Amino acid sequence: MTIKLPQNQKIVFETISLTEEKTFDQISEETNLKSEYISGASFALEEQGLISITTHPISEFSLTDEGSHYLQHSLPELRLYEAVRLLGELGTKFDLPQAIDKSSLDKNEVSVALSNYARKDYGTINQGKIVSSREFDIQSDPEQVALTSINQGTEIDQSVIARLESRGLININQLTKRSVILTKKGASERKKGVQISKSITSLTPQMLSQGNWEHLEYTTYNVEAEAAPHIGGRVHILRETAEKVKDTLVSMGFQEMEGPHADSEFWINDCLFMPQDHPARTHWDQFALSVPPAQNLPPDLVKKVQSAHLNGVGTDGDGYHSPWSEDVALGVDLRGHTTSLSMRYLSGQAIGHLEPPQRFFSVEKVYRNDTLDPTHLLEFFQIEGWVMAENLSVRDLMGTFTEFYRQFGITNLKFKPHYNPYTEPSFELFGEHPRTGKLIEIGNSGIFRDEVLRPLGVTCDVMAWGLALERLLMLMYGFEDIRDVHGTLCDLQLLRSTEVSY
Ligand code: PHE
Repeated sequence: MTIKLPQNQKIVFETISLTEEKTFDQISEETNLKSEYISGASFALEEQGLISITTHPISEFSLTDEGSHYLQHSLPELRLYEAVRLLGELGTKFDLPQAIDKSSLDKNEVSVALSNYARKDYGTINQGKIVSSREFDIQSDPEQVALTSINQGTEIDQSVIARLESRGLININQLTKRSVILTKKGASERKKGVQISKSITSLTPQMLSQGNWEHLEYTTYNVEAEAAPHIGGRVHILRETAEKVKDTLVSMGFQEMEGPHADSEFWINDCLFMPQDHPARTHWDQFALSVPPAQNLPPDLVKKVQSAHLNGVGTDGDGYHSPWSEDVALGVDLRGHTTSLSMRYLSGQAIGHLEPPQRFFSVEKVYRNDTLDPTHLLEFFQIEGWVMAENLSVRDLMGTFTEFYRQFGITNLKFKPHYNPYTEPSFELFGEHPRTGKLIEIGNSGIFRDEVLRPLGVTCDVMAWGLALERLLMLMYGFEDIRDVHGTLCDLQLLRSTEVSY
């Protein structure tokens, strides 16, 4: 009986030789089939005992930037040798600084040259003197020759490979090549002839609608066959974690707030009882935009906020007694926190008057004029939130955080008393970094002061917070630098392979 094979297997089977091994690449070239089809078909043929596959580990070499530099300019030790030779006779002691000067090596190259000169037995370096002790052609130095061979893809002197790698001049990439040959069984089957099996590899909508899918013969997949890694796009872990945070807060009964990234100072700072001369309101901290002043601020609220600043709130109130100007309040900034959204919602301006109890949140970008370092960027995502209810206490705040962070596997929170112009009491939150064990600040919180709430028309308690999404990520995944996930220095491997879990 003649053997039946699916089309690709038939093509590959008929190309393979009984006497000479062929690589997947060779077969791919001969058959015009893509190499992933060759490997799929080959593994299937091997399973049927028709061919045998051998794997050969091979190394591919490439020059690093430093290696390419020395390919052009010669290895530093060779340039030093050349300089010494130019100074005079073999065996003569010359001043080392003089030789270095003559070689025009740069600082880094000098130390490379010095550590390799004696090792290669070009001469000796002793007490500030350098000697060349043998005559040779610098172009024949085995390491220099190997750099050329690697560049040209020609035969390489294997004895210098390890040295070139440890000098950081080459990269070694280990690969496996596979080659195939026909087995005896394969040869005898092939003699009898090969037919194309009618088994199908993919279902079509027609097969399904006509119902004949039930009677068809299907090709089995070899899920273990090797294939090129497929790196598709994926949602950034920061975005993905932001979504998880939203899900978590929604499941805790919160509703989402939204609002502008560029907002008036009124919503960003004034409503929060931040004095207009507060240092956080300068360009050292926040980004001011050169755009026309904000419009449509609610005039009643502006008056109340102004009065809170100037006279305080309540019978025993005492304001800042510093000037308050509407012009400053109308200036437009990139928001330095999303507490501006909380102000818009609490004031009733966003979606109308709110009766307690209420819970709101946002997971949105904020912008600060910070100095870049491993834990600070100019922009980050803030997890803003607040709860409005009667008789809230610090216990409620701590309990909410404990519950929230527990969902992300973070159970060792620390709280530290803090100061905010708009909350009293206030707390900073810290979590332990899973790798370094260091405490890192992950958020800031408190219970809004009367000076904030009364002008907004809120008569019960409101506890609130701003947490950093990036810091949450650092605690979850253990990386130490935010720049691993953001910007041009980001670690692509980490972004591709990290799975978001909560
Ligand atoms: N706005 C604060 C910050 O950015 C966070 C915060 C919000 C603190 C609400 C208390 C109340 O750090």
